[in-house]
Amino acid sequence: MSERFAADWLALREGFDAAARSPALARRLAAALPARPRVLDLGAGTGSLFRWLAPIIGRAQDWTLADADPALLARALDDIAAWAAARGYAVTDRGRALALRTPAGTWRVGVRVADLAHEVPLDGQDAVVCSALLDLVSADWIVRLAARLRVPLLACLSVDGRDAFLPRHPADAPVRTGFRRDQGRDKGLGPALGPRAPAVLQAALAARGFTVASAPSDWRIAPRAAGMLAELVRGHAEVAARRLPLRRAAIGAWQAARLRQVGRHRLAIRVGHRDSLALPPA
Ligand SMILES: C[S@@+](CC[C@H](N)C(=O)[O-])C[C@H]1O[C@@H](n2cnc3c(N)ncnc32)[C@H](O)[C@@H]1O
Repeated sequence: MSERFAADWLALREGFDAAARSPALARRLAAALPARPRVLDLGAGTGSLFRWLAPIIGRAQDWTLADADPALLARALDDIAAWAAARGYAVTDRGRALALRTPAGTWRVGVRVADLAHEVPLDGQDAVVCSALLDLVSADWIVRLAARLRVPLLACLSVDGRDAFLPRHPADAPVRTGFRRDQGRDKGLGPALGPRAPAVLQAALAARGFTVASAPSDWRIAPRAAGMLAELVRGHAEVAARRLPLRRAAIGAWQAARLRQVGRHRLAIRVGHRDSLALPPA
């Protein structure tokens, strides 16, 4: 059973994701791809990575958005069609696929409902990409992917543990401990790597002869971004209290204090991520 993600949460984070991802690694991916690349997006959700990366690839391209959640994929097609129309691209809607006629060529987008625990449909692709996925998977899952991969991989926004709520609070430690434990919970793809994902990916692909580059892609959430800050505070407190029931009172006080700071524009949060680009051996 795969972990469920709310479309509203993916929409809230999209702007922060776009600001955080590494354009330099994306341009290196684009330079390594053929004239009309076929791109597979694993755990695509509502298509946020397509909206960021397709313009950087910047030529005719065919995407397959793969996800276990059919409702998110349906929303992805709607959101991509609206995004394209807002940019003046002609959109042809073929039900489970779109064709966007852009000044940089036609961009085709199809969807595939797939539980990545059982199938990772790599065949016929020129690149594999993902965003905010690899911290959900296990080390074994990454080793199996590395054994089958023959094309470039761009893995964006894997958490690396360099998180900070600023200013500090006395109950940051139990919240962090409970949150970390939850990051390691099995979300349907084996015991989750959480902040170990970037290092495990690097080692697994380097062992297969890939050249791996990485760059920080942190969320830097400023005090004015009240909606995102409040969501992160509530999310951290909820999972930490579930994991550390004996610390529930301290965690509740932490949440109340943090939400007061949000209301006064006194809280900032950094969430450490890394983007990784792996290019196959020649
Ligand atoms: C954190 S969200 C990221 C979504 C999207 N890549 C983005 O950046 O907005 C993780 C995504 O992985 C998908 N997912 C989780 N487990 C999965 C599985 N076992 N098989 C396929 N997709 C899965 C979820 O449905 C969700 O869309």
